[in-house]
Amino acid sequence: MARVVVTSPLSIDVRPLLAGHEVSGGSVRLDRAALLAAVADADGLICLLSDRIDAELLDRAPRLRVVANHAVGVDNVDLAACAARGVAVANTPDVLTEATADLAFALLLAVGRRLVEGDALVRSGGWSGWAPDQLLGADLAGRTLGIIGMGRIGQAVARRAAGFDLRIVYTHPRPVAAPGSHVALEHLLAESDFVSIHCPLTAATRGLIGARELAAMKPTAILVNTARGPIVDEAALASVLAAGGLGGAGLDVFAEEPRVPEALRASPRVVILPHIGSATLGTRARMATLCAEAVREVLAGRRPANLVTRP
Ligand code: GLV
Repeated sequence: MARVVVTSPLSIDVRPLLAGHEVSGGSVRLDRAALLAAVADADGLICLLSDRIDAELLDRAPRLRVVANHAVGVDNVDLAACAARGVAVANTPDVLTEATADLAFALLLAVGRRLVEGDALVRSGGWSGWAPDQLLGADLAGRTLGIIGMGRIGQAVARRAAGFDLRIVYTHPRPVAAPGSHVALEHLLAESDFVSIHCPLTAATRGLIGARELAAMKPTAILVNTARGPIVDEAALASVLAAGGLGGAGLDVFAEEPRVPEALRASPRVVILPHIGSATLGTRARMATLCAEAVREVLAGRRPANLVTRP
């Protein structure tokens, strides 16, 4: 009977979807040492974005045929090493598009309209009543939203932006059939009142938004990152914010999760979330289902639609 290892509790029990397989794990989060031991006789693996699937792990898993990553981003998986060993890799595209776009927009509004500061003021008991100059935030209508990466999630953010009368500029490897102007990054940074990141983390996008790019943004601009932490240079962001060089930032992802630099945690201009872009009941259930189905299909010799690479 084929063996499937699940590296963490998921939002639903995937065992019924894997009937006929021996499923292990799934009740506690496996740390690296436990994961390396668990894959020794695994045929399939369901893992999280925080599991590093690299050559070391693959070398300990001689029977492994499929890795299903419970995320759309696959920057934690060494795709070349998987391909070299004949291991298929699947991810969870589409099902998390709307939830992640919702969260990006929630962050844009939360920072722009200073929701967290307002909430803290009221809870502190320090609110003395309505005032004309209290917690003034950003206007949206007629302003420009720059979307870095106009894939599925970027386009879903653009659809939401249309309802707020935002003008769209975007960067992407090529123009896409969606409203908005395809521009160079420097143009986007200079023009945008809000910048939202939706590209994958790759060698080309690591550190894409560094000190130079942040300096090129409007001093009132708001940066939103729901993609991957290492796309933004966190130290540079913290120092630009401290110097008042940016309006604020909404961050759901960090370079070394769960570590969040103190300088960012201390900044009142930053709204910080614990990587919850896809965290809705329906989305997480669909992600777990997609992973289990991908494992089942590959082990049965079939090709699931959500394969990232096929050996
Ligand atoms: C979450 O960050 C994902 O890539 O699905």
